[in-house]
Parts: sequence; C-alpha cells; structure tokens
Amino acid sequence: MSVAPAPVDESVVANLAATAHRIETTLKDLLPTSDGLDRPLFDAMRYATLNGGKRLRPYLSLAVSDLFGVPEERALRVAAAVEMLHCYSLVHDDLPAMDDDDLRRGQPTCHVAFDEATAILAGDALLTLAFDVLADPVTHDSAAVRIDLVRGLSGAAGAHGMVAGQMIDLAVEHRAVDVATIEHLQALKTGALITFSAESGAIVGEANNRDRAAIVAYGRDLGFAFQIIDDLLDAEGNEEEMGKAVGKDAEAGKATMVAVAGPDIARKRAEQLARQAIESLAGFGQPADTLRDVARFVVNRRT
Ligand code: IPE
Ligand code: IPE
Ligand code: MG
Ligand code: MG
Ligand code: MG
Repeated sequence: MSVAPAPVDESVVANLAATAHRIETTLKDLLPTSDGLDRPLFDAMRYATLNGGKRLRPYLSLAVSDLFGVPEERALRVAAAVEMLHCYSLVHDDLPAMDDDDLRRGQPTCHVAFDEATAILAGDALLTLAFDVLADPVTHDSAAVRIDLVRGLSGAAGAHGMVAGQMIDLAVEHRAVDVATIEHLQALKTGALITFSAESGAIVGEANNRDRAAIVAYGRDLGFAFQIIDDLLDAEGNEEEMGKAVGKDAEAGKATMVAVAGPDIARKRAEQLARQAIESLAGFGQPADTLRDVARFVVNRRT
C-alpha cells in the first residue's frame, strides 16, 4: 500500500462539475443527430461523449481561456473540441483490439453498447468533428488562430502525439522497459493532449509567446502527473469510484511508473510534477489559482 494522497479539494470537484454541465450543453449543440440510416453513428457519438467523465481537459482549456479573457462562446467551442477528441480516444482505447474494456465512466463501453464497427466509426467521426469545430470561423475570426488550433490539436493527437503513444503502450506490453521509455510513451499518449488542452486557451486567447510557453510547461508536467496517478488508481483505486475496471494494467503487462518504480515512488514523482507545474504559473498571480488547484486535484483524486 503506497503513501496516502492528501484529501481531495471539494471546491475543485464542484468547479469541475459546473464545467462539465457547460461542456455538455455545448457538446449537445455541436453533435449531429439523424433519423436516417446513419442514426446509430450519431447515437454512438452522443453515447460516448454525454456520459459523464471529469471533463478535465475542457476544464483546463476553459481555465486558460479565462486567464486571457476569451469570450465564453469561443472558449466553450475550443474546450468541446478537445473533449470530443478525448472521447474518441477512449472509445478506441477500450476496443477489444486495444485494452478490451467493458466499462467506461460507469457504463458499458461504446463497442459493448453498440458494436465494434459502430464504435470505430463513432470514434472516427468525433475525431474529425473536433477539427471541424476548431476550423469554423465561429470559433475565431482570425484564420491564423484557427490554423494554430488545428495544427496544435493534430500534433497532440496524431502520429507524433497520442496515437504514437498508444502504439508504444501496446508494443511494450509484457516487456521490461526503463523509466525513460515510460516517460516517453506517457508524454505522447496522455501528456500531449493535456498539454494542448491548456495551450488551446492560450492560442484562442492570443497570448504572447512567453505566457504561452509557461502554460505549455504547466500542461506538460500536469499531463505526466495525471497518467502516473491513472496508473496508480488502476493498481489501488476501486471500480465504483473510477467507473472503469481496475487492476488491468498489471494483468496486461502495461509499462507504467507504478510497475517499474513501485507505488510510493510513482506518487512522489506525480506530486513533484504537480509542484513543478504550479511553479510554471508564477508569472500569472492570483488569476491562475484555478490552474494551481487543479494541479493539486490531479494528484489527490480518487476518480
Ligand atoms: C482517462 O482519462 C484516459 C487517460 C488518459 C488516462 P480521464 O481519467 O480524464 O477520463 P474521464 O474523461 O474522466 O472519463
Ligand atoms: C489511455 O490510457 C490513454 C488514451 C489515449 C485514451 P489508459 O489505457 O491507461 O486509459 P484508461 O485507464 O483505459 O482510462
Ligand atoms: Mg490504453
Ligand atoms: Mg485503457
Ligand atoms: Mg489507465
């Protein structure tokens, strides 16, 4: 049993819940509906996105947008695009060909509720819809800002980001790997999208280069800490709180910081990363308190 986390900050939990509500309203507006033959696709897209979740990535995007005074409608569209991409990644991550999970956010996974083909297509459609939303002039009137958003998200999600990380995650199952390999795979599979989530608020807020770099540094450390805790909760958390199966990483021989260094060192590393993330916010003063609080939440969470 590893060292216990500090208590969860309930005000962050309440803020996350309030954000989740705003994001869900935006997602409902942006997601397509149909009464035609394509209806199962649209139903599956809704199922995979309007199903709870912490909404951490849109929360980060919105909190950074707030820091730079972004109007609400724009900020919500960017945050919703990030969450669509994340939900696609969960649908595909749960497929039998990948982690083969039946439970997500407390409900049957998308391929269980529908079927594999529909889940694959729903993931594809969420992925592409995210870019459609970012590229829409309603999101920002400057084409340069829209291209920056599209480029940033494609970099975070694609062959040099999350998808590469997922490939390495599968490739090293049941193999002895060092800490550097784990850090590399986690930076790609989880860190890249979390970093972009924070950065997206700086992009749509047209932040200067120095501020944007500070936000990126914050997101990078937070993303690392986030995946270490995800791995720790797989080892020590419970299915009911997590809304997904636990104990599966060891069974699947996943390369995690917990497997290589043990739970105590893994938690200490996550705590150190969260502190480092908070240090990157030094230049922003009190308006960045939301981001500081969320960094602490990421390491203390039970869900
Ligand atoms: C789960 O992410 C997938 C990982 C990258 C570890 P979250 O823990 O943010 O999942 P939801 O969105 O809250 O369901
Ligand atoms: C998934 O990591 C990262 C993604 C890109 C979705 P995990 O496989 O550890 O996520 P969970 O534990 O299934 O949520
Ligand atoms: Mg996985
Ligand atoms: Mg998984
Ligand atoms: Mg996991």
